[in-house]
Amino acid sequence: MARSVPSGWNVSEGPTRGLVITLDGPAGSGKTTTAKAVAKRLGFRHLDSGALYRALTFALLQKGVPEEEWEGLGSEQLSELKIEVDADGDGVNIHFDGVLLTMELRSPEVTGSVSAVAGLPAVRAWLLGVQRSVGAHGNLVADGRDMGTVVFPDADVKFFLVAGLEERARRRLLQDTGREPTAGELQEEARRIEQRDQADRSRSHAPLRRPEGAVEVDTTGLSFEDQVALILRRVKDLTRLQGEV
Ligand code: DC
Repeated sequence: MARSVPSGWNVSEGPTRGLVITLDGPAGSGKTTTAKAVAKRLGFRHLDSGALYRALTFALLQKGVPEEEWEGLGSEQLSELKIEVDADGDGVNIHFDGVLLTMELRSPEVTGSVSAVAGLPAVRAWLLGVQRSVGAHGNLVADGRDMGTVVFPDADVKFFLVAGLEERARRRLLQDTGREPTAGELQEEARRIEQRDQADRSRSHAPLRRPEGAVEVDTTGLSFEDQVALILRRVKDLTRLQGEV
């Protein structure tokens, strides 16, 4: 079987699939950037599940579907939104109406509405199949809120990333604006993040929680490089992966 791992790593894959690694955690805990770097290092595919919820939100806003109608959407209407997901070698591309979505997914409008969309059972059910098909052959690093609990409950290694609220707000703003935020911006972003955390934790379907058996990593005082190195080391310790970290 072809192996997409870098030289120096030896993977003895199971009979059916390669490894699945999950990273869950609240907004701004560093999941997505870390998952992307870990996947790159291992030559695995990266699934940013938050981007799927964001893409559906973007499509609903673009099509002008009023928010009071979201609750009633079924799989047929969701399919009609023309969101297409294709997994290439190392990532997942999301198209809307044939156009690749990138920065649009992080707009304030999408960020402001995505929790409401992610709380809809029909949306979660619809995306479950999409996510599992992306990870069907393993060799995957998936990040989100329910990767280790619902989508990939049999994942080989599960992580739960946490970080202090102010640090999470700072990272989010830095990522979105490319500069250090002011104290006022920080306070406002922390308030928004807290609201989203609350919505993600308290929804009845697939709420954010620490998966059983997950390795908890507090990233507050860690540099990005340290974060990635720590995760790679734990993956190596807990699996059959061998080689230089
Ligand atoms: O990680 P993010 O900020 O891109 O996630 C966007 C939203 O989607 C956030 O409100 C939580 C939700 N989400 C979810 O409910 N389940 C996931 N697996 C990933 C994201």
